Amino acid sequence: MRFTIKTAKITETKSDCLVIPIFKKGNLIKASQSIDTANNGIISDFLKNGDISGKLGQCRMLPVQGKPYKRILLVGCGEYEKYSEKPYKKALASALKKLSSTSHKSATNFLAVFKTSKKIDYRAARIMAEIWHDITYEYTATHSKKTKKIALNKLSLGTNGRKINPEMKKGFKHGDVVGKAKQKVRHLADLPANICTPSYLVKEARKIASKHSSVSLTVINEKEMKRLKMGALLSVTAGSVEPAKLIVLKYSGGKSSQQPIVIVGKGITFDTGGISLKPSNKMDEMKYDMCGGAAAIGILQAVADLKLPINVISIVPACENLPSGNATKPGDIVTSMSGQTIEVLNTDAEGRLILADALTYSQRFKPKLIIDMATLTGACIVALGHHLSGLMSNSDDLANKLLAAGEAAGDGTWRLPLGKKYMDQLKSNFADIGNISGGGGGAGTVTAACFLQKFVNDIEWAHLDIAGVAWLEGSKKGATGRPVALMSEFLIQEANKS
Ligand code: BES
Ligand code: MN
Ligand code: ZN
Repeated sequence: MRFTIKTAKITETKSDCLVIPIFKKGNLIKASQSIDTANNGIISDFLKNGDISGKLGQCRMLPVQGKPYKRILLVGCGEYEKYSEKPYKKALASALKKLSSTSHKSATNFLAVFKTSKKIDYRAARIMAEIWHDITYEYTATHSKKTKKIALNKLSLGTNGRKINPEMKKGFKHGDVVGKAKQKVRHLADLPANICTPSYLVKEARKIASKHSSVSLTVINEKEMKRLKMGALLSVTAGSVEPAKLIVLKYSGGKSSQQPIVIVGKGITFDTGGISLKPSNKMDEMKYDMCGGAAAIGILQAVADLKLPINVISIVPACENLPSGNATKPGDIVTSMSGQTIEVLNTDAEGRLILADALTYSQRFKPKLIIDMATLTGACIVALGHHLSGLMSNSDDLANKLLAAGEAAGDGTWRLPLGKKYMDQLKSNFADIGNISGGGGGAGTVTAACFLQKFVNDIEWAHLDIAGVAWLEGSKKGATGRPVALMSEFLIQEANKS
């Protein structure tokens, strides 16, 4: 898709289709009015007869003749007074969905008339590019028939006579890159576990490293893991014949003296629960247990594509969690790379085990801060449903930045506590720590984070539990690409400061 800017007056804009906003019960805004006048009042007529009401997301396509454009797509944008980024996003998504099913090749978007953002030109362009990739994502990898191609190949932001603001181009670039990263993450996540193995993730990471001279890849195999004494990670992969990998993707965009931001993503390519076997209902969804890892890879791709002036390292511990004669058993005690011993009370609490060793390993890079992303606990879905990720952090400053980035990106989080009382739930009679709360006590999302905290020492750190948001269930089953938008927003902000 080509994203461009059209500075012509709306009535003189050359494009197959003009995308025009209609607001509820109000008068037409100026731009829509000039199109109405140029077309013998066709929009007023539609409004008068109730063909369109302005309801958010409603779409009506009108044919026109003898104009530089062939179609007008009227799009409901809700109430004018409430029009902001969110309704803009929704209205535009609905318009682009409609357009992508037609054979029109070009369209110009005039919906960016919200007043609530200071950086409207940047946001309008960025959102447009990003949602184009969101709505056109299609999983076809394992279907025998591929669906037809989309005709639309040029999408413009119409300014109605205003001159180009460089912020628009920047917005396109950011939206395009983040949108593509999200698509990659969704694709990797949607792939079945018999294709998307730890080795497959390595190949994907290698592609990024080969494309960018600023990116290098190190892969740690099981032999090396043994040498590094990664007993926690190795205990999870013990029951699987698929080799485990620890993927380390390094992007150097800042000065070599600049401390890196380390991103760690849980890469369980399939989680059966191990000997603490999960029920079979919906177990197929555990192919998504690598969504944090896929996001770590996708985010690094975005950062490299944007050439952000910062250093970022993505670390993905990747393996399967399967039962077998070699599998770790409940009650087994393993020694983590940090030296702490862990009583594996439940082999289904495996994510925190692989993350523990990845977090310890990450400290050799002297990180400025660490953010981990993981489909870590079913309890997080109980707490927050499918709307917000759980956010836990040892730093108010980092937590507030992530909350704000999530809000801005439409990829929100909600902060949950940490603390000694929760930490105490992990006490074990036989090891330094148990991998679950031995005596019950609830707060499964928080105690999982407390477990991770034991491995970050006093480095500034945040944990995102994405169990409820990484994929959709039911008839819309599929990966969402979260939290790529949130993390990209955060990293763009960090780069702006450096
Ligand atoms: N990957 C799961 C968490 C999960 C479950 C995410 C369902 C999304 C949907 C994780 O490895 C797990 O099994 N966690 C256990 C922890 C428990 C044994 C303390 C859980 O949430 O049940
Ligand atoms: Mn599990
Ligand atoms: Zn898991």
